[in-house]
Amino acid sequence: MATTKGTEDNLEQELQSLTERETFEPPAEFRQHAVVDDDSLHRKAHDDPEAFWLERARQLTWVSEPTESLDDSNPPFFRWFADGKINASYNCLDRHVDAGLGDRVAFHWRGEEGEEEAWTYADLLRDVQRLANGLKERGIGREDVVGIYLPMIPEVVVAMLACARIGAPHNVVFGGFSPQSVSERMKVSEAKALITVDGARRKGKTAPVKTEVDQEGIGDLDHLETIVVVRRTGADCEMAEGRDVWYHELLDGADDECPPEELDAEHPLYILYTSGSTASPKGIVHTTGGYLTGIAHTTKIVFDLKPDEDVFWCSADVGWVTGHSYIVYGPMLNGATSVMWEGAPDYPDKDIWWEICERYGVTILYTAPTAIRAALKWGVEYPERHDLSALRLLGTVGEPINPKAWAWYHKVIGGERCPIVDTWWQTETGGIMISPLPGLTATKPGSATLPLPGIEAGVYDENGEELDEGQGYLVLKRPWPSMLRTLYREEDRFVETYFEKFGRETYLVGDAARKDEDGYFWIVGRIDDVINVSGHRMSTAEIESAIVSYEHVAESAVIGEDDEDSGQAVTAFVTLEGDAEPDDELESSIREHVAKRIGKVARPKRIIWADDLPKTRSGKIMRRLLRDIAEGREHGDVSTLREPGVMDDLAEKVREQGDEGDE
Ligand code: WT7
Repeated sequence: MATTKGTEDNLEQELQSLTERETFEPPAEFRQHAVVDDDSLHRKAHDDPEAFWLERARQLTWVSEPTESLDDSNPPFFRWFADGKINASYNCLDRHVDAGLGDRVAFHWRGEEGEEEAWTYADLLRDVQRLANGLKERGIGREDVVGIYLPMIPEVVVAMLACARIGAPHNVVFGGFSPQSVSERMKVSEAKALITVDGARRKGKTAPVKTEVDQEGIGDLDHLETIVVVRRTGADCEMAEGRDVWYHELLDGADDECPPEELDAEHPLYILYTSGSTASPKGIVHTTGGYLTGIAHTTKIVFDLKPDEDVFWCSADVGWVTGHSYIVYGPMLNGATSVMWEGAPDYPDKDIWWEICERYGVTILYTAPTAIRAALKWGVEYPERHDLSALRLLGTVGEPINPKAWAWYHKVIGGERCPIVDTWWQTETGGIMISPLPGLTATKPGSATLPLPGIEAGVYDENGEELDEGQGYLVLKRPWPSMLRTLYREEDRFVETYFEKFGRETYLVGDAARKDEDGYFWIVGRIDDVINVSGHRMSTAEIESAIVSYEHVAESAVIGEDDEDSGQAVTAFVTLEGDAEPDDELESSIREHVAKRIGKVARPKRIIWADDLPKTRSGKIMRRLLRDIAEGREHGDVSTLREPGVMDDLAEKVREQGDEGDE
C-alpha cells in the first residue's frame, strides 16, 4: 500500500475540519453555468402549483396535450394530466432520433471483463421496436404485466422501453434477488411474460439464471405464457417448446417498426415491489404522464443536466427505483449520455468505479452513502489511481449520509470543487422530493436541505400539528405528479399506509425528520429507527454519525436493546477502517466521543466490533437482524441479505466478545 500513516492522519484531520464546517455555498464557477440559478421556479410553483406542473408536463411530447393538471376529486386517488395522451418510449427515443440525435450515445456499457459497447438512441429505438413487435406477436398488449429479471446489460433498457411502447406495465425484479422472490412477484402481479437471461456474471463467476427460473417453476404459473431469454453467458438451459423464446430470435423475426401506443396519462407504466425489509413487499404503481413529468424535470434541475455535454452515471441497479428513474427514464427523457456498469464496485479491483469515471469522462456521479463508506474503508489509494477531474457534480441517495462520508466524497472524489446533492425520495415518490439545487442551495452535510419547487414537505407531531423544530413525522402536504397511484391490488393497504394518519390529503412518508432554523430538513431515519433511553428519544442515525466521525471508524449501526434501567440502551455495531485494530481504549474513546457530541444518554452501553454488517441488497442495514444478534436470538429470515454469511460471523463475534465479560 502506497499511503503512509502520516498522510492518512493528514486526511483524517482534513476530513475532521471539513465536518466542522456547517455550510457549503455553491461554488461560484458552478453557479455561473447552472440550469437553475435563481428562485423563479420556486416562485412559480408557489404562486400557482397546478399551472407550474402543467407547464412542466408540456416539456414532454404528447400525442394530445393535457389541459388539466391535478384532479383531486377523489383523494387519495389523485390523477394528473388526465385528459392527455402520451407514450414513454416515444419520449425516451423517437423524440431524440427525430430531432437528429440518433447517433448520440445513450449508454456507454461496460462489462465485468472490460468489454465495451456504445448504444446510441437509434440503436435502442431499433431494438425496442423489434422487441415490442415480438411481444405483441406473443399476445402481450396493454395492461399485461411483463416481468423483467435481468442483470445490468443494455437489454434491460430495451425490455423496459419495449413494454412501455405497447402499454404493458413492467415489473422489474432486481437481478440479485432469488428466483423465489421473482416467482412471488410474478404470482402477485399475474405477469403474462418474463424477460430473463441464460446466465449472469458476478465477480468472475456465472449464475445459471434460466435454469434457476425453471427450477423455481416460474414457467408453470398459469398466467405466465412466455419467457424471453437473452443469451449472455452461453449457459446451457432448456427452452420449453411454445413457451420459451430466445430474445435474439424474437428480434430477428420481428418487424422493424412498431408505432407507440397512444396511452392515457394515467395508464400504468410500471409496478415495482419495494424491498421488504419489513412486512410483505408493496407493489408500488406508477403511471405515465405524471411520472415522466416529475422525472424529466428533477433529472434536469437536481443534476444540472446539460445533455450535450454531460456524462451521467447513476451507479444503482436498474432493479431499484433509483435505476428506473435516474438510469433509464430521467436521463433518456432528457436525451443524455449515461454510463452503465455490469458489475460490482470491487471487481476486478476496488478502483473499477474510478477507472470508469476516468475512461468515459463521467461529469455527474450519483450513488449511495453505503458505497461511499465502502470506498472510504478501502482507502484513497484506489481513487488516486485515476483522473477524476471531469466530475463536476456528485449526488447521494438512500439514507442519511454521515458527515465524515460526506467530507470524504467531497474531498477525495470531488476534489472540493463539486457540489453534492443529497437527494431524499422513495420508491413511492417516484422522483426526488427534497434536495439542494446545486447552483442555488447552500448545502449542510447530512441534510437533504429543502423541498424542490412544487413540493410541500412538513414535519408533524402525533396530532398533525406542524413542528418548526424538534423531531416528528415527515409528510408531503400536497400531491405531486410522480407520486404512486396505489399499491398493486391492495387499495386498502395503500390508503392505510400513507393516507390514514393525517387524512386523505396528506402523504405520510414513514420517515422521522426535523427542521432546523433555516427550514432545512434532516432525515432521521424510518419512524421505527428511534431509540428511547430513559425518556430521551434519539435517532439511531444521529448516534451512528457521531460514532463514524471518530477516527478510524468506517461504519456503524445502532440499535436499542431492552434495558432494565433505562428502558432501552444503546448498542453499537462498529466496523473499523482498513487495518485498524479494536481494543478497550478505542472502545472507551468512542463512548466518550459520543457523549461529547450528543450527550451522555447517547453513549453506547455496548460496542460490538464487526467486520461487516447485514445489509439488504440495496444497502440498507437490517436492524431487525442486529437486534436478534444482540439479544442472542436465532436470527430470522436472511434471504434478502446481500451477504447472508455476515450473520453467522457476527453471531460468533458477539459470543466471543460476550465471553470477555460484560461490564
Ligand atoms: C427511504 C426510501 C429513493 C431511492 C432509494 C431508496 C431513505 C432515501 C434519503 C436521503 C436520508 C433517505 C428514507 C426513505 N432515504 N434517500 N437522501 N437521506 N434518507 O428507495 O427503498 O424506497 O427507500 O430511504 O428512509 O423513506 P426506497
